[in-house]
Amino acid sequence: MTARDRTRRPVSKDKNSGARRPAARARRATLPMPSWIARKRDGAELDDDALRAIIDGASRGLVPDYQMAALLMAIVWRGLSPRELGTWLDAMVASGDRLSLDRIPGMKVDKHSTGGVGDKISLCLAPLVAACGVPVPMMSGRSLGHTGGTLDKLEAIPGFRTALGPRAFERVLEKAGLVLAGQSARLAPADRLLYALRDATATVESIPLIASSILSKKIAEGADALVMDVKVGSGAFLPERARARALARTIVELGGRAGLRVVALLTAMDQPIGRAVGNACELAEAIEILRGGGPADTRALTLRLGAEMLVLGRRARDRDAAAALIEGAIGSGAGLERLRRCVALQGGDLRVIDDPRRLPRAPRVKEIRARASGWLTRLDAGQLGRGATLLGAGRLRQDERVDAGVGIELDHKVGDEIERGERLATVRFNDPARWSAARTLLEQAFVMGAGPVRVSRRMVLETIA
Ligand code: URA
Repeated sequence: MTARDRTRRPVSKDKNSGARRPAARARRATLPMPSWIARKRDGAELDDDALRAIIDGASRGLVPDYQMAALLMAIVWRGLSPRELGTWLDAMVASGDRLSLDRIPGMKVDKHSTGGVGDKISLCLAPLVAACGVPVPMMSGRSLGHTGGTLDKLEAIPGFRTALGPRAFERVLEKAGLVLAGQSARLAPADRLLYALRDATATVESIPLIASSILSKKIAEGADALVMDVKVGSGAFLPERARARALARTIVELGGRAGLRVVALLTAMDQPIGRAVGNACELAEAIEILRGGGPADTRALTLRLGAEMLVLGRRARDRDAAAALIEGAIGSGAGLERLRRCVALQGGDLRVIDDPRRLPRAPRVKEIRARASGWLTRLDAGQLGRGATLLGAGRLRQDERVDAGVGIELDHKVGDEIERGERLATVRFNDPARWSAARTLLEQAFVMGAGPVRVSRRMVLETIA
């Protein structure tokens, strides 16, 4: 049920048809939307009262979608000034409840990624940070387009509940030190409505709209600080570095003005993170990290993001000391124990955490093999993400179900020397028609070259604080 569905609108009779219609429609006329849209279209600023009335009106169903969509498109082109953006964000937060987590001691620190391919970091990061003493209230999203979503990965655990009310959210956080949930209908409902409209009207790609959308949820969930992982590269939502940097700067600055401390990292998303792309297989890789194994890049990014969170949460004086604490929580098993606690409290089946071979696994398998000897020069994250989506790991429409057991397990990463015929990846799927649809995309994601390539192991490209 959307926030708009929940809004009980008084009804009145339509004079001509006699049909009942929302009385709200009559009140729409009181908002001068056409002149506000025109002001923004022409590059002028909107005053604070207008901005608040627009967000309030949109979340109460008083602004028709066609007017809101026109305004959003004007914002895509003209942007919002810092003052406008501050007011817009404030109104988005005020559209719903705001959790107070003050009862739980310490700085509450969340991490948010703009979305990538093979990005399972939250699943191992949140328990590790919690094990080091920083509470992590994490509200995550679902996959959309070619990027995966943490909620879908968590739902590979039988029974795991991601829809939690405010009391349950706080209780799990208090008992486990972390909570992994979805956005509730009562938190920032304006964002839910606007995001759905933006998704359907090609108005997602706007830095002020993205920044305010992300921050409205983080502020409403009660976080004190946020580490933002802004992805750059072919598998990222904003592939160009300059745009990603502009988004990171906007989020740091806007969050700071709203009282949320934010550190943003620009991180590489040209090839997938780690070796697994898919829901259950990514969860299995995150569990491997918590057990002290797993791919080097997944571990390195977990350590770096975790270190930033511990410094923001005032558990460590600097990043090196913080990384040592995270390594300690891996070595002692304390991180894994936190994940078990969180899964148990959220109704999930602990047997799959203790034995990830019990996670869903699609029965049909195809292998992608090298057609020539050489070096792997490119492993296109965007293409692999789109291929995984076609297999059923992600969704092209918001109402689609994902298939937890499908996915891609990579044998090689960029820079590896490979013999002709060697296996590059194993693809798991349920429906042969889906494999046929994804096959070319997946095969073409692997690009071989005749000579060695210089590979940068640096995943963090810039830090913006
Ligand atoms: N993620 C969000 O939460 N909002 C956006 O606008 C884009 C990505």
